[in-house]
Amino acid sequence: KLRVLSGVQPTGTLHLGNYLGAIQQWVKNQDKFDNFFTIVDLHAITLPHDPKALRQSSMTTAALYLACGLDPKTSSIFLQSHVPAHAELTWLLNCATPIGWLERMVQYKEKARKAGENVSVGLLDYPVLMAADILLYQADLVPVGDDQNQHLELARNIRGRFKNLYDKRGKRRVFKEPKTLLQKDVARVMALDDGTKKMSKSDESDNSRINLLDPPDVIARKIKRCKTDSIAGLQFDNPERPECNNLLTIYQGVTGIPKEDIAAEFADSNFGTIKKVLTEALVEKLTPIQTTYGELMEDQTYLKQVLRNGAERANSVASDTLAKAQSSMGFVTLD
Ligand code: TYM
Repeated sequence: KLRVLSGVQPTGTLHLGNYLGAIQQWVKNQDKFDNFFTIVDLHAITLPHDPKALRQSSMTTAALYLACGLDPKTSSIFLQSHVPAHAELTWLLNCATPIGWLERMVQYKEKARKAGENVSVGLLDYPVLMAADILLYQADLVPVGDDQNQHLELARNIRGRFKNLYDKRGKRRVFKEPKTLLQKDVARVMALDDGTKKMSKSDESDNSRINLLDPPDVIARKIKRCKTDSIAGLQFDNPERPECNNLLTIYQGVTGIPKEDIAAEFADSNFGTIKKVLTEALVEKLTPIQTTYGELMEDQTYLKQVLRNGAERANSVASDTLAKAQSSMGFVTLD
């Protein structure tokens, strides 16, 4: 089976973009692949953070992974910080990564601009840690939303550079080349209040996103208030109508109905109609997730056991790769 690795940052709660762009396809394909899904808590400290909130949202995110349908029997689920190899490999890769590659990253530039004085070395290094996440597991495929494209490209470049420097003239392959796996239809879910910017945890306005834990009345209110336009009918892919495209796309992602069918069904409808059916579809989708989530959080013994097992399996795979990387770079092993 091909190996899959992906992860989510435990900052704030998960939203519909995380679900439709990433987690839903992890769940759908999990029987086909050998899966590693991590909660990247080390990534969550690259900007100033509150320790208590980190502890809480790491567990919340793990519970949501399970509630969304990830099955610990087929998927190893673990916290990144429980596998020391992530931080260790990051150091090794740091020393093989030109700093200019990191300074060019779009997400770094955006976050650095916002962080002002508080730009940490970690923020710049973020994509190298992400490359380590992927390379440690010899992942064939990395299922993500399309905002992660540039990071994955960089991971491949870092791998390429490491290979040139240390793969003993191609005789020994340390890291496998990872491919990006994009969910074609809903690779980018946009904000509810502005169809030109992506739905994001860090948006100040909570009305810009649907959180997976939003109760039905909040979902209804947010959808009711979301931005629309005054053109008749509804359609996909009209660049003049990003909000219209977004609502139809979300509906498509949540229901799984083919795009052509949705386009035909709503061609002559108005926003009132799509808002109503979308609200119903979202409540129907999210309610069972929220119920399971509540059960998992009430007594966290099971959740912690899942994370313990996941970390054990992850550690055994990751430490093998780390040892290969260390040895190819010339570190002494005492066997
Ligand atoms: P993060 O936590 O921002 O997002 C987690 C996943 O959700 C997807 N996503 C979206 N997809 C569609 N529309 C949106 N509006 C939207 N917002 C988020 C992201 O593409 C992602 O797949 N750097 C990563 C975390 C990470 C990682 C990794 C991912 C660290 N190491 C290794 C894959 C492999 C991040 O910040 O994702």
